[in-house]
Amino acid sequence: MIDPFGRTIDYLRLSVTDRCNERCLYCMPEGYKGWAQRQDHLTTDEIIRAVEGATRLGFRKFRITGGEPLIRKDIVEILERIWALPGVQTLGLSTNASRLSKLAPAIRRAGVRSLNVSLDALDPALYHRITGGDLSTILEGIEAARRENFEIIKLNCVLMRGINETEFVPLIRFATERGMPLRFIELMPLASTAAINATHLLSVEELMERLAAQGTLQRRAGYQPGHGPARYYEYTAPGLTAPATLGFIGAMTTPHFCETCNKLRLTADGKLRPCLGRVGEIDLLQALRAGADPAEILRTAIAQKPENHEFLDNYQPSRPMTAIGG
Ligand code: 5AD
Ligand code: SF4
Repeated sequence: MIDPFGRTIDYLRLSVTDRCNERCLYCMPEGYKGWAQRQDHLTTDEIIRAVEGATRLGFRKFRITGGEPLIRKDIVEILERIWALPGVQTLGLSTNASRLSKLAPAIRRAGVRSLNVSLDALDPALYHRITGGDLSTILEGIEAARRENFEIIKLNCVLMRGINETEFVPLIRFATERGMPLRFIELMPLASTAAINATHLLSVEELMERLAAQGTLQRRAGYQPGHGPARYYEYTAPGLTAPATLGFIGAMTTPHFCETCNKLRLTADGKLRPCLGRVGEIDLLQALRAGADPAEILRTAIAQKPENHEFLDNYQPSRPMTAIGG
């Protein structure tokens, strides 16, 4: 399927729950209570119908997100049934790793080939301040995942000026020692509060300048381990035992960022989002419950994809990232 701006849309990110056992500053406003009720969540059967419809339209790449997807009780069944559908070429999952020590073997067996793990700090107190979670559990989860043969495990770090700037170099070292790509992501205004807002935005360009002052960054043009908008570089620097693979996702400052957008999002409560950074949702859940063909609703959502996001015009979604899907 081609959208009105000539982009091929073949990537669907599905949130399976808006709930999370962490509460990252950038994702969930403090004291957030806007959770959807269970009956408003897509059921497993509805998720499968949606994915099946998507494959008929040409979607090939799927990623499961949340909230934290691994807290949904039937997550392994959901993954197995998606993976069993003809036309599903790749299946990924984004997680905070808190449940990976328990679930890594089962989700690998269910067909997940790629994991994205959020890791914004390696200092335990700072990790706790950012996420509310316990770093040692997360590190155990990452190690458990490394023992399974996932094709790729990527680490994600959101750049926050004045909050986790001390962590960038330790994170690069951590990722390199384990042979994992590390992506740095610009902070998007998805949960602006006193604790986290535009003053904390640190651009990927500024980070790259800082890194280049300490070492060498070289573009890896042909390297694209995921289906997202990251640009990858090889980084060599004193103190690194091997070259690091770093990805940069500059949704806020990179010119032409939206030109390569290839995705739609489906929220846990069944709304299709043509764009994370613009108003507009289409109610797939209601359509499914009325017996409609999900492929037709997906087609409508693709036709409504805007050319670019409006974050720079102060657009802030009316619900936080945890409710949309990270
Ligand atoms: N800005 C940038 N990235 C975000 N994520 C969630 N909220 C934001 C935000 N406001 C990303 C993080 C996290 C993943 C689940 O979603 O990378 O690891
Ligand atoms: Fe949970 Fe992920 Fe949001 Fe953090 S970013 S609160 S881990 S859903």
